[in-house]
Amino acid sequence: MTALLDAGERLGRDELEALQLERLRATLRHAYENVGFYRAAFDKAGLRPEDCRTLADLSRFPFTVKADLRDNYPFGMFAVPEGRVRRIHASSGTTGRPTVVGYTERDLDTWADVVARSIRAAGGRPGHKAHVAYGYGLFTGGLGAHYGAERLGCTVIPASGGMTARQVQLIQDFRPEIIMITPSYMLTLLEEFERQGVDPRSTSLKVGIFGAEPWTEQMRGEIEDRFAIDAVDIYGLSEVMGPGVAQECVETKDGLHIWEDHFYPEVVDPFTGEVLPDGEEGELVFTSLTKEAMPVIRYRTRDLTRLLPGTARVFRRMEKVTGRSDDMVILRGVNLFPTQIEEIVLRTPGVAPHFQLRLTRQGRMDALTVRAEARAGASTAEREAAARSIAAAVKDGVGVSVEVEIVDPETLERSVGKIKRIVDLREAR
Ligand code: DLL
Repeated sequence: MTALLDAGERLGRDELEALQLERLRATLRHAYENVGFYRAAFDKAGLRPEDCRTLADLSRFPFTVKADLRDNYPFGMFAVPEGRVRRIHASSGTTGRPTVVGYTERDLDTWADVVARSIRAAGGRPGHKAHVAYGYGLFTGGLGAHYGAERLGCTVIPASGGMTARQVQLIQDFRPEIIMITPSYMLTLLEEFERQGVDPRSTSLKVGIFGAEPWTEQMRGEIEDRFAIDAVDIYGLSEVMGPGVAQECVETKDGLHIWEDHFYPEVVDPFTGEVLPDGEEGELVFTSLTKEAMPVIRYRTRDLTRLLPGTARVFRRMEKVTGRSDDMVILRGVNLFPTQIEEIVLRTPGVAPHFQLRLTRQGRMDALTVRAEARAGASTAEREAAARSIAAAVKDGVGVSVEVEIVDPETLERSVGKIKRIVDLREAR
């Protein structure tokens, strides 16, 4: 196994930290000298890049948030002349302007390296075929996975998202070992396999690399069982790079190793911004260590997780992301994440792994309806039992009452990429 690891993965912890500090100081200098936004932010805080003498000193530097990227739309966060930018990606965002990110040739090289490392950690090997069903285009999923798989020495099938019937045919005909896809779209494929009368356990697939949205251990169980594959988690975000910031190793499946030689993680209290010790849950914050075109300093991801020591690799792990603070529903004072409902729905007999959360307002109170789909053939009695059992489990496990509606099979909208779990029907305040 060790022979397969690249030089970064073979560093000792001390060597890694020395490298991180050197790269961190260079990144702070690069950002300060070349991006007006960072210069102004550091000046305002009374800090110079040289004030970062240890890794812990990073906590004195100001955060960067998504709004900062929007305010500097489109290219104001770039730290190199536009002529050196080889590629642009952008995330649509829910409101207003997209967030734009840029890569130099070296950044694209680094990105391919970290994604290749991720696919290898997932169990992919040179010579495997990789079916990439993340969307190609401004979204980083498709192209990010694509160049990483090529870098590892895989044969890439650039399927992109959509045209589900054809995806199934391509998998049948080309016989890939690896699939890279959102977990929710994998469930859509599952139904399509069944519709075409193909046993999903009979395919050539050995490993699925799932990310771009939160998913639970229950979902892992469902996918592994229905497809007879290993299902592992890949994490990333466009502002920091794209897919391949962190990856779960197939041999341990115990959370995601953060590629810490390129991305420096912190977990902070989402309200106070105070850095939390490893092991405590909070908001994940990243500082890029090697990026040229668009270095990010203390970027607040809004993703909630905790940092854990390395196991299969020297790098620290992050626990599977519970959810984004944006997706948290506050219901009569109780915080609720869609992943909590996913865990419950997926272990309830009689319902399919498809659900949606509808938020409404009744008088001055918000109300949540869990709409879950009956499994084909479930009787009325089974459906009623499922509704009662979900409501009771949410009341017990989350501590809040919700309505549960069991809808007919194949009536909820299916995902072809990132799924939207929450439908907010409350009137604007
Ligand atoms: O979703 C990059 C990506 C593509 C990652 C393909 C993995 C696979 P964005 O569109 O910028 O980039 O969205 C980033 O998606 O902040 C998380 O909230 C969420 N996310 C990404 N991966 C995971 C994951 C891509 N494995 C946002 N688990 C992030 C939970 C994830 N959430």
